Amino acid sequence: MAHILVTGAAGFIGSHTADQLLAAGHDVTGVDNFRTGRRANLAAALASPRFALVERDVAAAGQLNDIVARVRPDAIIHLAALVSVQESIANPELNYALNVQATHHVAEAARLHGVRRIVFASSAAIYGDATDLPIRETTATHPISPYGAAKLASEALLLGHGAAFGITVRCQRYFNVFGPRQDPASPYSGVISIFDRRYREGKAVTIFGDGRQTRDFISVHDVARANVIAATKPGIDSGAANICTGRATTLNDVVGVFSRSYPAVPACTHAAARTGDIVHSLGASDAAAAALGFRAEVDVETGLQELIRLG
Ligand code: UD1
Repeated sequence: MAHILVTGAAGFIGSHTADQLLAAGHDVTGVDNFRTGRRANLAAALASPRFALVERDVAAAGQLNDIVARVRPDAIIHLAALVSVQESIANPELNYALNVQATHHVAEAARLHGVRRIVFASSAAIYGDATDLPIRETTATHPISPYGAAKLASEALLLGHGAAFGITVRCQRYFNVFGPRQDPASPYSGVISIFDRRYREGKAVTIFGDGRQTRDFISVHDVARANVIAATKPGIDSGAANICTGRATTLNDVVGVFSRSYPAVPACTHAAARTGDIVHSLGASDAAAAALGFRAEVDVETGLQELIRLG
C-alpha cells in the first residue's frame, strides 16, 4: 500500500480521489486551503484512520515542504487550483499564482524530498477551440484563456522537473467532469451541476443555443479512478493523456434524462448561444488506455441517474 498526498483534497475531484485511494487501502494526506474546497466533501474520508487533513495554501512558496518531509509520500496528486475559466479571465494574476506558481512549488517539494511520482490535474482547456475531433494528445495545444495557458505551462514545468530529477509525471487532461459534490454556484459552473440543482428545485433549465452542442462528459468516479491508477500503478512512464470517455453527448440528451425523472418540472427554455462557446468537444481516449490501462466505465445516463437519486 502507498501513501499519497492529495492537494485540493476538499474539492470536487480531490475528495472523490481521496475516497477511492482510501477504499483501495492506501494512506492519504489531504491538503486544502478551503478557498473553494469544502470540509463536507471529506465527511467519508475524515472517518478513516488512514486519512489526515492539513489546512495549507500550496500556492505560497515552501508551504508543502514540511508536510512532504514528514509524510514522505510515494506520490503527490496535485489537484489544488483556481478551477474556473471565467475567474482566470477576471483575475489572471490569481490564476498565475494558483495554477502556475503552485505547480512549481509542488514540483520543488517533490524534488527536495525525493517524491517519485506526481499526478497533475490538467485540462482539455489546453486545446482551446480545436475543431478537428476527436481531440488527441497530438492535437496542437492552443489555449484561449489564462486558465488553459496555466494548465499547459504547468504540464511543461512538471515534465521538465520529472525528466531532470527522475520523477514520473502524469498529466491528466480532464474533459467535462460531472458528478456529486460539483459546485453549481456560478453561472459558469459545469452545466450538469447547474441543471441538477434547478431540476431538484423544480425550476426550468435554460439551454444556451439549440441544445445540439456536444461535450465529452466524464463521471468524477472515473476521473478519480484514473487518478488512483496514475498515482499507484507500477511501471508507468511520464506523459500526458486525455481523461475522457471518447463519446459525445448532446445537451438535449442530458436534459432528456433529467426531464424524464422530473416530469413536473416545466420544459427547458432556450437562450442565445454563449459568446465564445465551442459547439463540439470530444476527446480520444486511447492514450490513457495505453499508458494507464484506464477506460471510462460510467456512461452519462448512469452518472445522471446517480445525481438524480442523491437529489
Ligand atoms: C468550459 C468551461 C467554461 C469555459 C469553456 C472554454 C467548465 C465548467 N466550463 O465550458 O468556463 O469558458 O470551457 O472552452 O469547465 N450551458 C447551458 N445552460 C447553462 C449552462 C451551460 O446551455 O445553464 C451550455 C453551455 O453554453 C455549453 C454547455 O452547456 O454549450 C457546456 O457548458 P459548460 O459546462 O460551462 O462547459 P464548457 O462549455 O465545456
